[in-house]
Amino acid sequence: MAVLVTGGAGYVGSHTCLELLNAGYEIVVVDNLCNSSSESLRRVNEVTGKDFKFYQIDLLDRQSLEEVFNQNKIEAVVHFAGLKAVGESVRLPLRYYHNNITGTLVLCELMQEYAVKRMIFSSSATVYGMSESVPISEKSPLGATNAYGRTKLIIEEIMQDVYVSDPNWSIAILRYFNPIGAHSSGRLGEDPNGIPNNLMPFITQVAVGGVKELQIYGNDYPTLDGTGVRDYIHVEDLARGHLKALEKVMATTGVEAYNLGTGRGYSVIEMVSAFERVTGRRIPYKMTDRRPGDIGICYSDPTKAERELGWIAEKGIEEMCRDAWRWQSNNPCGYIEEEEVLRTT
Ligand code: NAD
Ligand code: UFG
Repeated sequence: MAVLVTGGAGYVGSHTCLELLNAGYEIVVVDNLCNSSSESLRRVNEVTGKDFKFYQIDLLDRQSLEEVFNQNKIEAVVHFAGLKAVGESVRLPLRYYHNNITGTLVLCELMQEYAVKRMIFSSSATVYGMSESVPISEKSPLGATNAYGRTKLIIEEIMQDVYVSDPNWSIAILRYFNPIGAHSSGRLGEDPNGIPNNLMPFITQVAVGGVKELQIYGNDYPTLDGTGVRDYIHVEDLARGHLKALEKVMATTGVEAYNLGTGRGYSVIEMVSAFERVTGRRIPYKMTDRRPGDIGICYSDPTKAERELGWIAEKGIEEMCRDAWRWQSNNPCGYIEEEEVLRTT
């Protein structure tokens, strides 16, 4: 019996594959590599010493995906596959709706057909929209401010309907706050395409010399130093959260949403200072205008996950910075080897 991991070559997916293998699960990975490289999976194999099957398949390709269900005895699905760039989703909403929603529909139809009714879905704190009241619990109002966020909200609603139609389903919706950091081996990490949008990959790019300075988007928020506050969570803690959720969905039926965060917020300035302290690198920055669509403060109330999944984030901000830096400095070009970059430029 195997766990099917969609989007397993990506940032959160690869770290979760590693934890699943280390915990003794058999896994089957499906990914079309539209935002990742198979090198991440090669390294999962290298770090764990365990083999697993990988299918380079698009979730929208029903026939190929059905082959995966035919060829393997799948008992549960951890569903990471999706597009996730907020700005791009505003420019290309149809691509996001098609990829994220239709991809999930094809997957769920096959699950239903093959009687695989246990599922973990990667949602996001973005489903809380412009919520300014913190900490954010699962009962906080939901809303979307862009097409990406709307795909998450719509899929959450689809999951609810699927369960209502057939109470044998067991679904955990995991709402991630801000995943950062990398595997402590320094072999796995976040490898964004082009210039990063998110804070931590941007900081590490500045530290490694790829980008001159960090732009801090706004210092007039109602926070301790005026810069935006977020709930950063170590990707290894996040990956462990999936194992806890998997235990839960294997043992029960139902559909439940859980916040995966630390419950503690840090400002942009606090993040820069922590990174500088831990790594000894200076991060030059300049203050600029607010980024459109950003909220001031966002951090979780993670007590439901602790109570019902027995999960709590363990790693602090210093470990997040240290591991992000170890990954970036060991792999300045991400999963592409430096020699390869030099050869092609
Ligand atoms: P990622 O882009 O690194 O991983 C997603 C993977 O899905 C990629 O490997 C990509 O190639 C694959 N994929 C996309 N569309 C596919 C399709 N149609 N068929 C097959 N494979 C496909 O992203 P991540 O950071 O690892 O995020 C994983 C999930 O968690 C996503 O659903 C994302 O929306 C969600 N999430 C991420 C964050 C974050 O900040 N990283 C926060 C909240 C939620
Ligand atoms: N920031 C900067 N400069 C940068 C990048 C970010 O000052 O170059 C600031 C932002 O303004 C914000 C904080 O750093 O205050 C964090 O920004 P990120 O872009 O890293 O993260 P967000 O909270 O804006 O969004 C992320 C994902 C979303 C997801 C959300 C909740 O990009 O997809 O977390 O999970 F929905």
